[in-house]
Amino acid sequence: MNEGSTPVTQASRPLRISVIGTNYLGANTAAGMAEFGFDVIGVEIDENRVKLLNDGKAPLYEPGLDPLLKKHVDSGRLRFTSDYQEVGDWADVHFICVGTPQSDGSDAADLSQVHSVVDLLAPLLTRPALVVGRSTVPVGTSAVVEQRFHAEAPAGTGIEIAWQPEFLREAHGVDDTLHPDRLVFGVRSEQAEHRLREVFATPIAEGSPVVVCNRPTAELVKGGANAFLATKISFINALAEMCEATGADVSQLADALGLDQRIGRGMLNAGPGYGGGCLPKDLRAFMARAGELGVEEVITLLREVDDINQRRRSRIVHVTHELLGTDWVGRNVTVLGAAFKAGTDDVRDSPALDVAGRIQLHGATVTVYDPEAMDNARRVRPTLRYAASAQEACQEAHVVLHLTEWPEFRELDPVQLKSVVETPLMIDARLSLDPQAWRNAGWTYRAPGRP
Ligand code: UDX
Repeated sequence: MNEGSTPVTQASRPLRISVIGTNYLGANTAAGMAEFGFDVIGVEIDENRVKLLNDGKAPLYEPGLDPLLKKHVDSGRLRFTSDYQEVGDWADVHFICVGTPQSDGSDAADLSQVHSVVDLLAPLLTRPALVVGRSTVPVGTSAVVEQRFHAEAPAGTGIEIAWQPEFLREAHGVDDTLHPDRLVFGVRSEQAEHRLREVFATPIAEGSPVVVCNRPTAELVKGGANAFLATKISFINALAEMCEATGADVSQLADALGLDQRIGRGMLNAGPGYGGGCLPKDLRAFMARAGELGVEEVITLLREVDDINQRRRSRIVHVTHELLGTDWVGRNVTVLGAAFKAGTDDVRDSPALDVAGRIQLHGATVTVYDPEAMDNARRVRPTLRYAASAQEACQEAHVVLHLTEWPEFRELDPVQLKSVVETPLMIDARLSLDPQAWRNAGWTYRAPGRP
């Protein structure tokens, strides 16, 4: 942290930073830059969100983010606006933090938000500035964006584009922003590198390693990292299939594999597969870009990773069939969890909601409970039933599915819960409940990948 010191520019004033886009990435980036000691304005076209943020409230659930926003809104270092005019010539560095979702009807990334930032910002830049992309984009994007700034900004070639990918994990966004495990600076000049070293002086002083590279490399680092993480998860999930066929235990297998330092234990939890707003769409965008570039090998490899991920969801539905039989009409299925992982209210591409929806399509009545993601879940899956607690969700259940690994689900008392369900069948798709405790309480416990 850098509360006492004030980073200064050559003009002997604190560096001024604009952060454009204030969803998950932008809100964390804006709050983090203020914590590093800079003057920050966040730009957001949604007026309601601007109001919320100026009250120190994040537009989403993220542990620790509200207090950090509040701290710096109150300190006067941080404010939010919907008016690009306010940041045009005010900021020394502009961070682009807008979303790059999957395009409608294709796997490629939709870059329309990045281009609308250029539309709105470029005409306002009359003095030299550094524009830093943090959004996840296909390799080659920064060069296109720079050409547009050069053509459309009054400062012309005085505008330089750098790419500095982020690696924030939801539920750890504040920590990952303030204490990044690495900083990647994709630059084409020493001035840009120096400016980025100035911006990230606090984490660099704390020991965060810096990789300085060209911009295509920086763009590939993010896509490459997410593709690797997805591959690791699908690899262990493929081994879970081997375990099911042989009576081996995939959790112990992962522990043993993970002790090899070359492999590492991270991202080796077998389960319903990866979801969320990043890994699935980033993997597909990476394949789409590989296709455009004619690198078919990458597509062949990653297509299988995606297929294994989808298979995991089908497998859970299949195990439910094995336990319930084929006629699901009149059967009550409880789904514990709606968020794509614990610690967030994000339900984008959530395996839990996908499985819940598939089971409902087979005719069962599906009741969902999640500690944080109920509102978002209701919005995307309004036809499912929702309960106010795990206990309530399990009333008269014919089978219970554990699909998001919230700590409170590990605390459930199997003896007590048995008294409220119709039949004590538990499918622990996250492989994180205590099998012995559930079996001792009289439950049929199944965890695909565990004996
Ligand atoms: C991910 C990357 O980790 C992050 O670096 C990048 O910036 C954004 O994408 P996030 O989407 O927050 O972050 O989730 P992460 O914690 O990586 O989990 C992704 C998905 O994989 C979740 O659905 C999670 O449940 C699943 N997962 C994770 C597993 O199934 N097994 C694991 O061992 C780890």
